Amino acid sequence: MSTFSAVDVIRTKRDGGVLTDEQIDWVVDAYTRGLVADEQMSALAMAIFLRGMTAAETARWTRAMIDSGERLSWPAGRPTVDKHSTGGVGDKITLPLAPLVAACGAAVPQLSGRGLGHTGGTLDKLESIPGWRASLSSAEIGAQLASIGAVVCAPTSGLAPADRKLYALRDVTATVECVPLIASSIMSKKIAEGAGALVLDVKVGSGAFMPDLAAARELARALVSIGDEHGLRTTALLTDMSTPLGRAVGNAVEVAESVDVLQGGGPADVVELTVALAREMLTLAGVSADPAAVLASGQAYETWQAMISAQGGDPFAPLPTPRHLEPAVRAPRSGVVARLDARAVGVAAWRLGAGRARKEDPVQSAAGVLCLAKPGEPVSAGDPLFELRTDTPDAVAGALAALEGAVDVADSVPDRPPLIIETIHGNR
Ligand code: URA
Repeated sequence: MSTFSAVDVIRTKRDGGVLTDEQIDWVVDAYTRGLVADEQMSALAMAIFLRGMTAAETARWTRAMIDSGERLSWPAGRPTVDKHSTGGVGDKITLPLAPLVAACGAAVPQLSGRGLGHTGGTLDKLESIPGWRASLSSAEIGAQLASIGAVVCAPTSGLAPADRKLYALRDVTATVECVPLIASSIMSKKIAEGAGALVLDVKVGSGAFMPDLAAARELARALVSIGDEHGLRTTALLTDMSTPLGRAVGNAVEVAESVDVLQGGGPADVVELTVALAREMLTLAGVSADPAAVLASGQAYETWQAMISAQGGDPFAPLPTPRHLEPAVRAPRSGVVARLDARAVGVAAWRLGAGRARKEDPVQSAAGVLCLAKPGEPVSAGDPLFELRTDTPDAVAGALAALEGAVDVADSVPDRPPLIIETIHGNR
């Protein structure tokens, strides 16, 4: 018989106490095995939401979630390094980044997610490539890492099952926005994934999960501190998400923009962030290479082709095109774009069919928004500011409603935050 009771654990946290290591290990394990009921874990999640957890509790909670499943390991050879973004609008960086870092000599096992709400998911984007397959076994991931150096795929089913169960519960109990629970959720998956180092891209601004700088910084510090506790070399970058990254927001449109970057073109902000994250990843992995030069050489594009082909995709096949395409929202005056709101564009793309409301919903590969003018760019009165793409034209009205008030045109651009706002290093 267990010496623990879920009610005691909930009561301890409800009253502002600190959970012991044994209580944490027990409750996470018992919940994963179905011995603690959903309603009890919901109450505990709410108590944690309201009372918080200490750094030591958060580290132990993370360990318990890692231990709920398998811990992956990769073939010796190249050093492994991964990247995680807290999610943003137009954030396609994984697509050029993984092959770039692999082309520089490190190996990138990137287990990614699908989109929910106004931010897109990497797997949804890649699934717009004809034939591309997201599900790989851990043996297939290992083989592809050894041969090509980059894999972007769905998490294996045995990875941190406690988190999968708890995250679904948090989603329906208003307990998602809680730093210790977010940090332990992200880091349990990343640590179980087995990379030797991790770079975190913590987004700040209207399109981010944590819109304000203080909260994003608190999350970044919590993430790095868990990395330190677990011996994972970790660096976090706080980066701007007040405006979309690049021009393309959606699935196939973001793949096309990523390929532009890999071919030496693409929007300056996407190139800047890709190269900056690659530098941090290579530094943590101990690989000396110049990612800007490797990108310019075309080697990253070759690695992309190999990575897509290895997962059944045709890197040269035409990407899906939308049934309906419409220029929208006219510039009210001539001037320069002073503001373009990330969240509004993310919601518009989502309403056009690029995202999903429930995790079982399908997404439209061809749906999305192209931003025709970004902050700092000149426009003439009457110019369209967006191109809306969808297979369901009825969705356009909802997208236009989301874009209301999303753009300011002025005589000049106010000072904007830098793309890379701050870097937080772990202690290794
Ligand atoms: N992403 C995660 O993986 N977990 C959270 O709790 C929030 C965002």
